[in-house]
Amino acid sequence: MAQKLLVTGASGQLGQLVLDALLARGVSASDIIATTRDPSKLATYAAKGIDVRAADFDNAELTAKAFAGADRLALISTDALDDKGTRQKQQIAAVNAAKAAGVKHIVYTSLPDAESSKIIFAPDHLNTEKAIKESGLTYTLLRNTWYQENMFMSLPNVLKSGHWYTSSGAGKIAHIARADCAEALAAALASGSTESKTYTLTGSTLLSTDEVAALAGEVTGKKIEVIHLSDEQLAGGMKAAGVPDFLIPTLVSFDTATREGHLGARTDDFETLTGNKPKPFRAFFEESKDALLA
Ligand SMILES: NC(=O)c1ccc[n+]([C@@H]2O[C@H](COP(=O)([O-])OP(=O)(O)OC[C@H]3O[C@@H](n4cnc5c(N)ncnc54)[C@H](OP(=O)(O)O)[C@@H]3O)[C@@H](O)[C@H]2O)c1
Repeated sequence: MAQKLLVTGASGQLGQLVLDALLARGVSASDIIATTRDPSKLATYAAKGIDVRAADFDNAELTAKAFAGADRLALISTDALDDKGTRQKQQIAAVNAAKAAGVKHIVYTSLPDAESSKIIFAPDHLNTEKAIKESGLTYTLLRNTWYQENMFMSLPNVLKSGHWYTSSGAGKIAHIARADCAEALAAALASGSTESKTYTLTGSTLLSTDEVAALAGEVTGKKIEVIHLSDEQLAGGMKAAGVPDFLIPTLVSFDTATREGHLGARTDDFETLTGNKPKPFRAFFEESKDALLA
């Protein structure tokens, strides 16, 4: 009998791409369980025959019911970024529920260099990885580098103003497409492998902020001046621009971590898992040019 593959957080942007990627790999819809806090968001997938169930990691009873019968489970990290350890608590609850439900293998979306990354929420990922290792289940840890799509958070304003303020210095990142992360996750989940492994998923080319700005400028035809600041200056600028106080340390930590190399890996792990080459960053900018300029 085919293994039942469960995807948590399935209505999120990554989650839906994972469902698409599983179906594209030929996994039968009847072997896929998709859990989400809001099943109504996945009606089109339910219509295709995917077993859509309600789960919320803050609700142990609901999650236990939702995980019943799953053999392999993809735990998509949640988006709770407060400083109260909510995300870590939610994810460790999910690991415990998976174990109790008889799941044999967990795939988890983690963060590069989770052990020492300066990114403020790195401990959430590291402690979830630890809980998975301690559960005794086999696992695939997918440490996802920044999505190419993260450009939508800051680049539209950069393109409007012509200025990119950063404390990332000469630090480099090999951004990866969200859909490539989904494809790798689907490959790991559907592989049937019971080896425990950690991968760092990256795009093909390491670029500094100056180099990303040059590429984005070339594709959009806009001039971008990169203004290099210290972390303190960057935080001050964010405050002056009205960024909410609670977000500033998180956003600044992204640049600190970049500068110090915590996001600076470039690997062939995407190709190892999928047999394909990752989407080049230039292709992302070409496809997204109009939306970034809107
Ligand atoms: N590598 C990167 O650049 C990067 C960037 C942004 C985020 N991330 C991380 O990757 C994850 C997926 O990315 P995305 O782009 O798909 O983000 P997203 O669309 O914001 O998805 C948020 C995810 O969190 C899940 N979630 C939130 N609260 C939950 C709860 N109480 N119980 C169970 N699940 C819960 C959501 O599931 P439902 O809504 O379906 O319940 C959804 O899958 C994010 O949640 C975040 O941890 C990575």
